[in-house]
Amino acid sequence: MNVILKNSVNEKVHFDNNNGLQLFLKREDKIHEVISGNKYRKLKYNLIKAKELGYNGLLTFGGAYSNHIPAVAYAAKKNGFKSLSFIRGDEIANNYLENPTLKYSHNLGMKFNFLSRSNYKLKTNEDFLDKLRNKFIDYFLIPEGGTNALGVLGCEEILNHNDKKFDYICCSVGSGGTISGLINSSYENQKIIGFCSINKKYLLNDITKFVTNNNWMLIDDFAFGGYGKVNVELIKFMNDFRHKYDILLDPIYTSKMVYGVLNLMTNNFFKPNSKILMIHTGGHQGILPMNKFLKEKNLTTINY
Ligand SMILES: Cc1ncc(COP(=O)(O)O)c(C=O)c1O
Repeated sequence: MNVILKNSVNEKVHFDNNNGLQLFLKREDKIHEVISGNKYRKLKYNLIKAKELGYNGLLTFGGAYSNHIPAVAYAAKKNGFKSLSFIRGDEIANNYLENPTLKYSHNLGMKFNFLSRSNYKLKTNEDFLDKLRNKFIDYFLIPEGGTNALGVLGCEEILNHNDKKFDYICCSVGSGGTISGLINSSYENQKIIGFCSINKKYLLNDITKFVTNNNWMLIDDFAFGGYGKVNVELIKFMNDFRHKYDILLDPIYTSKMVYGVLNLMTNNFFKPNSKILMIHTGGHQGILPMNKFLKEKNLTTINY
């Protein structure tokens, strides 16, 4: 793919504990300023395949604040593709340029179709997808969140041989592609822990489709009420974390995972003297719309 990446570094996070635990954060968020974190990983092989098959456009799905949508718009623009997305919710069809995520994507040339919430559920229905393939014959279809076998293959490149020393690998989970890649490239002695940002029931099946190892588990105790939900405690945690470590977390995914890991460390969940690696999967673009929402509610915003 035609983008220049920076190295992803594991930074030590000094967190007091009595169990000899060592905590690190893999800064996947720093590999690129737009296609940061898992976005680059999930798009890489999809774009290679689209080029190989001679497609001229990319077609995908996402929520109005999705990190995936601007990443596809950017990757398409940089790699000579047109881009088209189907957005969940038709209520913003007439004023979508007021939404920072969609405005950014629009400025990169992306075109939009707005689906009602019930029609959006068809995003994985094969008949619906066949109709789209026939209508948009020139476009390569990438599923919501970029999670397909090619996306998982890209996520297998997040870990490298230097990460063998870690006992636990922790990441946040949305559509399940990132954790699937981590599981596939992990070592048998490692435990991969996914912190759910949506309902765990659906995720278990999705992940099982992509993986063969069973050294993983999902935890849904730190979802803060579900996808896209935050509360005062989480925002305070993000701001304190930023202040203490100079690391910006996103409000939808990584902040909940980091909050969960620190909580579990305090509660003796991990084996003493273990090394824990958390994956920062990016998502900073979601801060702007979240702050707009918090401001409207007169709540504390995220410092960035
Ligand atoms: C910033 C960020 N982190 C984590 C995730 C979760 O990844 P996945 O959908 O592969 O489970 C997403 C969603 O794609 C995301 O945008």
